[in-house]
Amino acid sequence: MASQELIGGLNDQLNREVTTFLRYMLQVASIKGAQWHSVRDMYQSEVTDEVEHAQYLADQIVMLGGKPDLHPDLTPPPSDVREMLQRDSEEERIDVRNYIELASLAEKEGLVALKMQMEDQAADEDAHGQEMQRLLG
Ligand SMILES: [Fe+2]
Ligand SMILES: [Fe+2]
Repeated sequence: MASQELIGGLNDQLNREVTTFLRYMLQVASIKGAQWHSVRDMYQSEVTDEVEHAQYLADQIVMLGGKPDLHPDLTPPPSDVREMLQRDSEEERIDVRNYIELASLAEKEGLVALKMQMEDQAADEDAHGQEMQRLLG
């Protein structure tokens, strides 16, 4: 039986993922201008990654005996593209830390597949953050 700490941590991260893919989806819709074409493409492909992360977390919460509890942050995103990239690269760093913590909790509870998937998701978020830094120049 997984601990409440682990299930609660997975649920907090599920909310961060849902918040993130909603924000990226709106940012894709709002970005205009040929100079931001590659930023728009990057956010478009990351929407898919974040949805997959959220789906995995929701599945695991249920498998471990919990219930997904969604309360995403619906604050409208910034309209300035550099502001988006700056803010999102910081949020991606927080996600990396959260996934490393979740991996260590999962390991303590003997959940090997979950531990490895949390590490994979940490690596995805690290790559997202690096790509945003590269686009910032
Ligand atoms: Fe993610
Ligand atoms: Fe990400």
